[in-house]
Amino acid sequence: MEAKTAFQSKTIVTDLVLPSETNPINNLFGGELLARMDRAASIAARRHSRRIVVTASVNHVAFNRSVPLGSVVTIEAKVSRAFTSSMEVYMDVWIEDRESGECIKANEAIYTFVAVNETGRPTKVPELIPETELEKERFEAALRRKQLSLVLAGKMKPDDASELKALFK
Ligand SMILES: CC(C)(COP(=O)(O)OP(=O)(O)OC[C@H]1O[C@@H](n2cnc3c(N)ncnc32)[C@H](O)[C@@H]1OP(=O)(O)O)[C@@H](O)C(=O)NCCC(=O)NCCS
Repeated sequence: MEAKTAFQSKTIVTDLVLPSETNPINNLFGGELLARMDRAASIAARRHSRRIVVTASVNHVAFNRSVPLGSVVTIEAKVSRAFTSSMEVYMDVWIEDRESGECIKANEAIYTFVAVNETGRPTKVPELIPETELEKERFEAALRRKQLSLVLAGKMKPDDASELKALFK
């Protein structure tokens, strides 16, 4: 199976914030952004694996900045590391200023997807080759995040999470 670059999975989704998607103070609902990110990330994971993919976990979401009604929101998703059947997808979320067109970083998120066959069994994915400095940084940290996610899900013993434990030594 041929390794792929992060760039090959790059997915950009741009959309508006409409009134039905906002809270009482006219900012985008967190759940609406989560759903938009899930769709963008699943496309990135599918582009990397060329398989059916399912969301295994939402590892990290930081709602650092609210997204007002009428905003143009852009989600950029790329696979940051591939393991055996799972892929970490890293997303950056931008809001476009109406007058200047400048893009302001609003949020970041990290989701994990698993490639599965027609019966829902996990199946192998290609390795990921990071190219840029940022891709290399995200690739390096992805194993620790995978271990943390598995420990929190009760699927790995904390004692076995060696890369994660090394952070605290
Ligand atoms: C995700 C799913 C396929 C994993 O199946 P499983 O039987 O637990 O399979 P495994 O234990 O062999 O794990 C498969 C991979 O998922 C990873 N994984 C499982 N749970 C994980 C979690 N919580 N966080 C990070 N990775 C996880 C494993 O580490 C493994 O990765 P690897 O093969 O790259 O090493 C299965 O739990 C599933 O189908 N879940 C429902 C998915 C879904 O419907 N999502 C939408 C929710 S509405």
